[in-house]
Amino acid sequence: KIIVLDYGSQYNQLITRRIREFGVFSELKSHKMTLDEIKAYDPKAIIISGGPNSVYEDNAFDIDPGVFELGIPVLGICYGMQLMTQKLGGKVEANPGNGEFGPTKISLDANSRLLAGTPSEQTVLMSHSDNVTALPEGFSVAAHTDKTPIAAIANDEKGLYGVQFHAETTLSEYGHTIIENFVKNIAKAAGDWSMAGFVDQQIKEIREKVGDKKVLLGLSGGVDSSVVGVLLQRAIGDQLTSIFVDHGLLRKGEAEQVMNDLGGKFGLNIIKVDCKDRFMDKLSGIADPEKKRKIIGNEFIEVFDDEASKLDGVDFLAQGTLYTDVIESGTDTAQTIKSHHNVGGLPEDMQFELIEPLNKLFKDEVRELGEVLGMPHDLVWRQPFPGPGLAIRIMGEITEPRLEKVRDSDLILREEIAKAGLNEKIWQYFTVDTGVSSVGVTGDFRSYDTVIAIRAITSIDGMTADFAEIDWQVLSEVSRRITNEVKGVNRVVYDITAKPPATVEWE
Ligand code: XMP
Repeated sequence: KIIVLDYGSQYNQLITRRIREFGVFSELKSHKMTLDEIKAYDPKAIIISGGPNSVYEDNAFDIDPGVFELGIPVLGICYGMQLMTQKLGGKVEANPGNGEFGPTKISLDANSRLLAGTPSEQTVLMSHSDNVTALPEGFSVAAHTDKTPIAAIANDEKGLYGVQFHAETTLSEYGHTIIENFVKNIAKAAGDWSMAGFVDQQIKEIREKVGDKKVLLGLSGGVDSSVVGVLLQRAIGDQLTSIFVDHGLLRKGEAEQVMNDLGGKFGLNIIKVDCKDRFMDKLSGIADPEKKRKIIGNEFIEVFDDEASKLDGVDFLAQGTLYTDVIESGTDTAQTIKSHHNVGGLPEDMQFELIEPLNKLFKDEVRELGEVLGMPHDLVWRQPFPGPGLAIRIMGEITEPRLEKVRDSDLILREEIAKAGLNEKIWQYFTVDTGVSSVGVTGDFRSYDTVIAIRAITSIDGMTADFAEIDWQVLSEVSRRITNEVKGVNRVVYDITAKPPATVEWE
């Protein structure tokens, strides 16, 4: 295993992710981890991440220089390279110009084991306003750019390396090779971390932790809770009870699919609570998006709480918390905090011990885990779906006929996207009842009906997004079908806005 010490760069999760691609387990740890804690963890190597500080500032995040004496390889990236330089007696200064930002050409200076097998000129992603200006003893310059004489440093003998650029991003052309060199050739980490191994280990751990006690799971129908359900079912079978709250705001066929796939095929014991009327009652007359979200969130918790209190002797609550959620809320560096919480948030007074088997995994790894567990491909590759469901895809007040319009048009869109083979290429796609009526003509008659919008985006994490460039023919077929097949719709528009400035959802 390899530790990545977190100094706050927006790319630091990627480093961990890259290392795992080589079958080596890696975790992001706080930069406050002490030398003793690091020793106890016994990593094969350490990577020091980038970060927004300058090493010469008073409150800059620091490192124990003992890290460089452990006899294991260390790679510093960006701030990490500067910190290593400063601790080992070199010099770091503010760049006299404006720094370097974006794709930049570097030239290699000497053969280092880190950059071995990469061309003498290559493009890398730079993002820095400080420079290493004097090398620590025992180091040589491994690469430079036009503006940065020291863009990579190497001490092959001690296994200490630094790169000013972000080798972990795909914008660095040979970043993959560079990280691979470090992980496999320099750290000699064995590539024995696999998803199948992870499953075995998790099952063992869950069994040990749970013993003969009972576990409760809130099933949303999304990928994460479904995977947790199947994993727990395999580990503890009937000791697991799942509660699936059907608030009536799901997509067409979704509740049935959850019950068929998870309840039927995988034999999960699911208590399905139909509370459509309860939610619709509460939402009646409410047009404000944030009010809608709050009502749905609160109702959800109440329903879950009611059902849970009917069960006896449950000690554990399972949750599909991901590694990204843990990192975003738990490290010491400033991070972007997710503004959305899944609706299945925990009632605060519930006294359960938590089981979070996905809390070391990234989203794409959860999908891989689902596949290893034999879950159907289309279940595992579902697009993200917001907790408040279709409620935030109907602008203004929610009524049953409006829900029908969104459900039916959404199904048509899903069918056509699948037919065009785009369902795994587009991150998220759905239709919106815009709340606008427009004049149209049907046969010889004037109509005054709803305008439906199509939203389809490409994204990595939902934080930023671009509209998907879907073929006109596909869009044209979707439009033709929606206006023909969905009653009360006479116009379809395509949303061509990126996030920012728009958001993914319309509300
Ligand atoms: P926005 O609209 O904020 O959406 O650009 C980004 C991602 O988050 C989802 N989303 C939500 N998820 N509760 C959720 O669980 C919410 O209230 C919520 N609002 C938006 C959205 O579908 C997209 O994937």
